[in-house]
This record gives sequence, C-alpha cells and structure tokens, in this order.
Amino acid sequence: MEKMVMIILIMFSLGINYRPCTGFPRYADPLVDEAFNASVKEANARLQHPFIFRPYRSSLIDVSVPEDNSLKLIFVFGMQKTVCRKDSEADPFTCEFHGRGFQDRAHCASNTKVYEKRVTYLNIDCHLIPLTSSDFSSP
Ligand SMILES: *[C@@H]1O[C@H](CO)[C@@H](O)[C@H](O)[C@H]1NC(C)=O
Repeated sequence: MEKMVMIILIMFSLGINYRPCTGFPRYADPLVDEAFNASVKEANARLQHPFIFRPYRSSLIDVSVPEDNSLKLIFVFGMQKTVCRKDSEADPFTCEFHGRGFQDRAHCASNTKVYEKRVTYLNIDCHLIPLTSSDFSSP
C-alpha cells in the first residue's frame, strides 16, 4: 500500500514539475533528480566525445519498488553537445549548448536503483548520433 502511494506521489510530482522551457530537464523529487543526475554523469563518462553533453529532454518511463524497498527508476533521455570540454569538469546542466542548429546528440536509456537516498545501481546505454548522421530516428 505504501509503495503504491509513493509511486503515485512520484508520478504526480513529475507530471507537474517537468519544466521543458528551461531546456534542461530536472526533477522536483530529490531522489529522482539524484538518479537522473547520476545518469547524466555516467552518460558523459561513457560517450566517446571531447565535449560535455547536456540533456534537452528526458522521460521517466518506469518507477517500481522491489521487495528490498529500493526505488527502481528507468529514464530515457536525449542529450546535445555543449561548449564545455570534458576536461573542464563543468556541470552538464549549466553548460551552454553548442550553437543554435543541429549538433551532435546522444540518446540514452538508464536503469537506476536508489536505496536509502543513494544511487546503488546504474546501468546505462547511450548511442552517439553525430551531426553527419542522416538517420536520427534510430535509438
Ligand atoms: C542535480 O544536479 C543539479 C545541477 O548540477 C544540482 O543543482 C542538483 O542539486 C542535483 N540534485 C541532486 C539531488 O543532487
């Protein structure tokens, strides 16, 4: 019962707090925000690219509470190249996007687990979509 309430509360907070106008999706629930931050950080660590990528859209596609009372969150998100180089260690959420037009992008899916306010598991899959690619719809 408590689990259902928790899930509903999270879903509700996501629904009303997603702020597409800011250009960088952030989540009002701190646990969800933390899991998403960790996902973005890991995505940047994995992408073979000299520049930091910043999320421009994101969806939390699944929330569940397994038996161990952790919170499992699955995100899919799109990121775009910023002006910050990776070696600058800048914050991916505040770096300016690189130019106005279409830039290198990445599509990512992350599977996270939060337990006692910490991200205890993170599995991520990212595909880089270079500017030169003509097929933008592939995952
Ligand atoms: C997520 O990252 C943003 C930008 O760096 C930061 O302001 C925010 O506090 C982080 N959220 C959590 C829960 O750590």
